[in-house]
Amino acid sequence: MTSRARTAILISGRGSNMLAIARAAQDPEWPADVVLVAANKAKAAGLEAARAMGIEAIALPHRDYPSREAFDMALSAALKARGIELVVLAGFMRILTPAFIRDWEGRIVNIHPSLLPKYQGLDTHARAIEAGDAEAGCTVHLVTEKLDDGPILAQARVPILPDDTPDSLSGRVLAEEHRIYPPAVAALAARLVAARAA
Ligand code: GAR
Repeated sequence: MTSRARTAILISGRGSNMLAIARAAQDPEWPADVVLVAANKAKAAGLEAARAMGIEAIALPHRDYPSREAFDMALSAALKARGIELVVLAGFMRILTPAFIRDWEGRIVNIHPSLLPKYQGLDTHARAIEAGDAEAGCTVHLVTEKLDDGPILAQARVPILPDDTPDSLSGRVLAEEHRIYPPAVAALAARLVAARAA
């Protein structure tokens, strides 16, 4: 057993958070070892980027499965086949079934582009601007059966500027996502490795 948690990152698109974590994990002393990137879309740009870093990257197109349950079972099986210990959601735009989440409870983490508990779900930046909020941000949290809920591990805030659009705000928040997600993943991975050794 190594002192690093075998980690999978699940994506649906660009994968910039995945890359921030994969780059941190290039340090052999880092407590999480990114051994798999999986996407529910064959065209997710992050898959090629992961392969370019030497990480196994697979697509499981959700449309190939007859039901949400069947997709989640295939995904869970792919993770277990690789001895995955920690699952990191990074722009994975699929609601996971309670059965999947129970399987990985305490070992699955997400980043959401809002100051949870505000603005669960989609269009977070447009909703924060529309509401006249003074600030926005991002939240790293453990995944539980309720969508965009679960214990908060890290949060970062940015101001909303008078002429912000959802795009300009999302860029400012994304920079904070890249800053807070890797250390939050490292802290959880270190806890899992310590629990494994105990
Ligand atoms: C990120 O902003 C992430 O917070 C958000 O998708 C983006 C993915 O970007 N996630 C969600 O909205 C999850 N509900 P990335 O692919 O470049 O990391």
